[in-house]
Amino acid sequence: MNEILVKKNLTPVTKLIVVKNPFVAAKAEPGQFVILRVRENGERIPLTIADFDREKDTVTLVFQEVGLSTILLGKLEVGDRILNLVGPLGVPAELPDSGTVVAVGGGVGVAPILPKCKELYRRGVKVISIIGARSKDLIILEDEMRACSHELHICTDDGSRGFKGFVSDKLKELIDGGLKCDEVVAVGPIPMMRATCETTRPYGLKTWVSMNPIMVDGTGMCGACRITVGGKTKFVCVDGPMFDGHEVDWAEAWLRAGMYRDEEKVAVESCQCGGGK
Ligand code: FES
Repeated sequence: MNEILVKKNLTPVTKLIVVKNPFVAAKAEPGQFVILRVRENGERIPLTIADFDREKDTVTLVFQEVGLSTILLGKLEVGDRILNLVGPLGVPAELPDSGTVVAVGGGVGVAPILPKCKELYRRGVKVISIIGARSKDLIILEDEMRACSHELHICTDDGSRGFKGFVSDKLKELIDGGLKCDEVVAVGPIPMMRATCETTRPYGLKTWVSMNPIMVDGTGMCGACRITVGGKTKFVCVDGPMFDGHEVDWAEAWLRAGMYRDEEKVAVESCQCGGGK
């Protein structure tokens, strides 16, 4: 259980692992996530399920080495086991059966958007995907996204590949160019999801986002993952992770996401783990 069967470096700081866990694989749906611990006394980190295979009893996880726990996770090799892994958690994404959906993925957010695109494509929904990263070396899962998209647009902040600019800029260009779509799904860092929502707001275009806050228990009891949506408190672990992006209080979500930034820096610096290198 929880044995790593495959490990790939997608970018210098982004890794993909395929983990054996028949219980999670049997129940996982697009949009759900797992919480794992790498070691005793380690923090619990939520990771969205990037793929699952019910026949092989596996789940695929993609993570960026941004803090101590993800750095330690990245040190595990094929054959190693993750100490604990619980899931699937959260509410499966509500996906339409027809129409056109624009899927917007930024950075490592392309991984959680992939299972949604696969399912939409399987249902016969027209999928227009926009994926982006800071530079061309940081684009992930391009081939996998292409396989489940009717159109794929690539963006880089520095213009080293595809459209030069943010994914939200590309979305605006497409909308202004006459793109007709029924809804948008955006997954990525908070500034990217927020910018996407501000882009679609004037057009009244329904926009779903997938929130990824700090979590502890993952069962709706500790309150660590709370956000405000439409003026009401929501717990991402049990009410989400997908929410109407036009209703999210982004300023609060950003503040809460950075609450332990200083402690995280100290933890990485004081660890003999090489700081992700
Ligand atoms: S992680 Fe504790 S309430 Fe969501």
